[in-house]
Amino acid sequence: MKSIYDKIINLRLQLKYHNYMYYTLDASVISDYMYDKLRDQLIKLEKKYEKNDLLKIEHPVLKQIGSKKLHIFSECIHKTPMLSLQSTNEISEIIRFDEKIKKHFNSVNNIKYYCDLKIDGLAVNLLYKNGILISAATRGDGWIGENIKDNACTITSIPKIIVGNNVPETLEIRGEVFIKKSDFLILNQFSMLNKTKVFSNPRNAAAGSLRQLDPHIAKKRKLMFFVYGYGVFTSNERINSHYDRLMQLQKWGFPIHKNYLLCNTSVDIINFYNQICIERSKLDFEIDGIVIKVDSIVLQKKLGYTEKYPRWAIALKFFSQDVETKITNVTFQIGRTGMITPVAHFLPVNISGVTVCKASVYNFRILKKLKIYIHDYVKVYRAGDVIPKIRTVLIKKRDKFAKKIIFPKYCMSCGSKLLHSFNFTRYYCPSNFLCPAQKLQRLIYFSSKSGIYIKGLGQKNIIKLINYGYLRTPVDFFTLTYDKLQMVPGIGKKLSTKIINNINFSKNVRLEKFICALGILDVGISVAKILSKYYKSAIKFINTNFKTVSNIKGIGINISKSIITFLKNKNNLFITSKLIDQLNIFFVSN
Ligand code: IVH
Repeated sequence: MKSIYDKIINLRLQLKYHNYMYYTLDASVISDYMYDKLRDQLIKLEKKYEKNDLLKIEHPVLKQIGSKKLHIFSECIHKTPMLSLQSTNEISEIIRFDEKIKKHFNSVNNIKYYCDLKIDGLAVNLLYKNGILISAATRGDGWIGENIKDNACTITSIPKIIVGNNVPETLEIRGEVFIKKSDFLILNQFSMLNKTKVFSNPRNAAAGSLRQLDPHIAKKRKLMFFVYGYGVFTSNERINSHYDRLMQLQKWGFPIHKNYLLCNTSVDIINFYNQICIERSKLDFEIDGIVIKVDSIVLQKKLGYTEKYPRWAIALKFFSQDVETKITNVTFQIGRTGMITPVAHFLPVNISGVTVCKASVYNFRILKKLKIYIHDYVKVYRAGDVIPKIRTVLIKKRDKFAKKIIFPKYCMSCGSKLLHSFNFTRYYCPSNFLCPAQKLQRLIYFSSKSGIYIKGLGQKNIIKLINYGYLRTPVDFFTLTYDKLQMVPGIGKKLSTKIINNINFSKNVRLEKFICALGILDVGISVAKILSKYYKSAIKFINTNFKTVSNIKGIGINISKSIITFLKNKNNLFITSKLIDQLNIFFVSN
């Protein structure tokens, strides 16, 4: 229980910190993706242990973070959900999007697209009743946002009253609030002089300004607004094109950015994208791509929605902007299969709102190709807007302090001579369970969900069990007893019983899970599935030979070599055979 308790407390603290950074400081240091991952973990654990009194608290973090709100503004339920947008960096995906839609409607040229700028600000939903602004809300969780009407009213380009003909009874306007780049610079210079909060980017500045309790502050920040869409649009169902609807909105006084394109082909879309790429730096506000929407409302309705986004729209995002930084070190990590991964550490930099300080280089060929020296200046970016990567080394900036990287020849954990793949791309430690670093990773993996899954045994407990000498190989999981577990600090009576029960439960294991749990280089679950389908029994699998395995459809030469190298190793074979004796490994055909 102790480790679950630690984990939950730790997750709560992490989320509290990120909420504070996001809400209070508007300076998030984590991507939405990572934030959601942490939140999902906490939701799962809290749900599972909701009856545990120890874990009950007066102000649950999840209540604050469900919709990422501070509860300082009142809640506002959107009339129609504010969904997100499917997005890509790949031109080929846009070609596919166009082809798919045209195929769906059996049409070659008759689909019209409306393309516009993807403004990097804050989504806002404005609700008008009989032409009067009733509420202005942030996106929140898509269904419920915060009512920031007082602040929104300070934005001059947001109409408070709609003037014109045929104003609908109910109108929901969707648009983006942002701050101009030039105003952002002035704001930050002013903040620096006054030693007040400095924002990491215009988006955070806009978000921070909209979420101020004092509207006077929002007013001073000179926020801007552009409309890109709508939710409820009553009485105007007659207007059957997105473009026409936007033009109507413009007549009613809403600001629409003039940089849009109506077109019929993916070639036109790509030309528009290329043109925007060139013009981007001249714009006085941040954009992060273009958005392509099917123009016909009838066709939009026919295409419909997934749970998360409309099928009729897609964003083509720019590649993450490169940011310059300086390499401080290059270390080498030993993975569970013994593979050595170079990791470049650099001075922390902010890339699209997230602070990063290291990037995995994946393999030695990439590391050699980059020709990095320690203390080199490099350009880093976030691939797919998430994973940090090194784009280039600025060799011209290299100075006398630059130091060559010393590539390891021996394993940093066990001292074994490293082996390499035939093209010197990958280096790995061949010592399997005899290498302490690998052993730890292998044991964690073996007992994890990807392996045979022993519930309740976390990484921390595995480390403790190794330190107590109770765990050396996966076979030792099955010699653990209640008494042994109880000896380990932090594993109480209740958890010991649970772990023993779960170990017994895990003894019934599907063949593909067992093969995957062994941690053979390049053998993940999909390869394990192919192997299990072919061999149908663990004994047959361990008695295989290179010729047989390399003839299996879907198993290439490299994977075959890894499998045979693993099985030829006496220690591995001994452990695997013992496991086969202890477990009930079964094959299921689907
Ligand atoms: S269309 C159903 N058009 O991007 C969603 N969104 O990543 C339709 N955004 O939350 C959205 N500029 O706040 C659309 N020209 C534009 C946009 C735009 C910025 C934002 C919007 C949305 C996010 C999705």
